[in-house]
Amino acid sequence: MLAGGRGTRLRPLTHSMAKQLVPVANRPILHYVLDHLRDAGVADVGVVISPETGAQIRAALAANPWGVRLTFIEQPRPLGLAHAIMVSRDYLGTEPFVMYLGDNLIERGIAEFVRTLDHEGADAAILLKEVPDPRLFGVAELDGGGRVVRLVEKPAAPPSRLALVGIYLFTPTVHEVIAALAPSARGEYEITDAIQGLLDRGRRVASAVLDGWWLDAGKKDDLLEANRLVLDRWARCEVAGEADAASRVVGRVTLAAGGRLVASTVEGPAVIGPGTTIERSRIGPYTSVGAGCAIVDSTVERSVVMDGVRLVGVPRLEDSLIAPRAIVTRAAGGGARLVIGEDSQVEL
Ligand code: DAU
Repeated sequence: MLAGGRGTRLRPLTHSMAKQLVPVANRPILHYVLDHLRDAGVADVGVVISPETGAQIRAALAANPWGVRLTFIEQPRPLGLAHAIMVSRDYLGTEPFVMYLGDNLIERGIAEFVRTLDHEGADAAILLKEVPDPRLFGVAELDGGGRVVRLVEKPAAPPSRLALVGIYLFTPTVHEVIAALAPSARGEYEITDAIQGLLDRGRRVASAVLDGWWLDAGKKDDLLEANRLVLDRWARCEVAGEADAASRVVGRVTLAAGGRLVASTVEGPAVIGPGTTIERSRIGPYTSVGAGCAIVDSTVERSVVMDGVRLVGVPRLEDSLIAPRAIVTRAAGGGARLVIGEDSQVEL
């Protein structure tokens, strides 16, 4: 499970937070990945971490409710997905393995997919999904019979619209190919080159087209979409916190224990974290509010509000990502006063 890398496309959130820990419906993306690995019967998980965010990743997985054996593998520099396999070689030994990118979120699990290698006698298996702009991904070219013949990483002129989803299966043969790889033009050991190397050596690469939605949450626009889709699929009506008589909860709303609604309306699907107070406000639909927030005299729709945020007198916030402990209030006199971090985006 890859949880290293840099996360430049998710700035400013990733100035301080590992991108795999950005919350979707109040759970870090990495937790969904572990759900899928456990459900597919994977008992040993090697977690590739970076020196910068490794401690956060360890802390986020420390409770380990999945009951899998976790081994943390530090990758000194983010030199590519094939490099992450290189640094994991001793850990992986002679076993076949699944590589799951820690910022990929898929609707259904991978239980069926992980059996592909046995069924097809292949040395790798990839998952594909048709996307509107394949230039942002690894792209596969298939022959008339549906066999993978070529893979290219983020091509300017894509040979198809079939992007590589960030979940791959390999036999140990891939280690020999990776040992002979050279870095690409962008200086990374590319996983697409490793798979191409298998094809060039006459090895079989199986492929399947993914059912259900897939989001690469490491890309900013996908994060709100991920929140929307995950809430749509998994939000439950569960009010453990307190709602006063003047408050209304409509549809599937999770209000965690210690959450409090005062004269407010929350429209699901939505989740409100523990210790959060909502006063004289309207929240939702498609909104996640983290733990320990205070939202007063505000309206928030289709947004992700992270832990410890304070929103006071904000008339209409929509399609927004608010990082932990940020404060947004209404300025007296109508002018805007901003103290915002590097790489932030504000649309007034
Ligand atoms: O999401 C699918 C795409 O993932 C594929 O279509 C591409 O073929 C594949 O190269 C990859 O592209 P990205 O540009 O999205 O990869 P990114 O750099 O975001 O890294 C993916 C994950 O792996 C992310 O959680 C960070 C982690 N990572 C990345 C690198 C480069 C590492 O742990 N170590 C690394 O060296």
